[in-house]
Amino acid sequence: MSDVLYLARTYRRAALPHRLHVMIRRVTCPFDRVVDKVPAGGLHADVGCGHGVLLALLHRRNPAGAFLGLDIDRRKIDQARRCALDRIEYRCGVVDDLEPGSFDSMSVVDVLYLMPNSGKAQFLKACARALKPGGTFVVKALVDTPRWKHRVIVLEEHVMVRIFKITKGETIKITSPGVLAGMIREAGFTEPEVIGLDRGYPYPHSLFVCRRADVEEGSAP
Ligand SMILES: C[S@@+](CC[C@H](N)C(=O)[O-])C[C@H]1O[C@@H](n2cnc3c(N)ncnc32)[C@H](O)[C@@H]1O
Repeated sequence: MSDVLYLARTYRRAALPHRLHVMIRRVTCPFDRVVDKVPAGGLHADVGCGHGVLLALLHRRNPAGAFLGLDIDRRKIDQARRCALDRIEYRCGVVDDLEPGSFDSMSVVDVLYLMPNSGKAQFLKACARALKPGGTFVVKALVDTPRWKHRVIVLEEHVMVRIFKITKGETIKITSPGVLAGMIREAGFTEPEVIGLDRGYPYPHSLFVCRRADVEEGSAP
């Protein structure tokens, strides 16, 4: 069964606009490439999970896994809970609330562009704190190249964030892959592997894969 059919079935109890949103997310974002980079075992957190599309796909791959989805938007968390997959907990909140050193892996998909650069740095540090030392960190971000794809996404996100307010965010601040890689490193992670994923999509998708650098558990990285 394709991911889209699987999601349509999994979210059948969600309200129709949210169900459609989930399916559009899957078609427009290379979630399969993100899933490939998340290790199959241990406790995984998806920060800024939205409706939980990534978690549903990770659960499909590994139904015995344990997952937490965290988002500041209660509307999306309420809809995510309707998909009722075992072993996925959804929480409304921020990454600073997570217990230090408690996750084996963590993902952040299309969230960083909703924060100013100073906010991104704080957010990334909080992610590093919540991960176990050596834990895998996978970030799918929108970047500012190729230029035409950057223009497409800026226009679309103005509609999503500012006009229809479908997405909650402080701002729209899309940076270069190099700047994001530097911020990730500075926050306490190893040098990220940067993978361009925009081929076949009209959006400037990029993937960053790294590990929490080996710091003492519980201490600020
Ligand atoms: C474009 S959506 C992506 C949702 C999901 N990751 C996905 O790929 O479908 C961005 C999400 O980030 C959430 N968000 C924005 N700022 C956040 C923050 N500081 N902490 C947690 N979630 C945040 C928004 O509420 C929204 O659900």
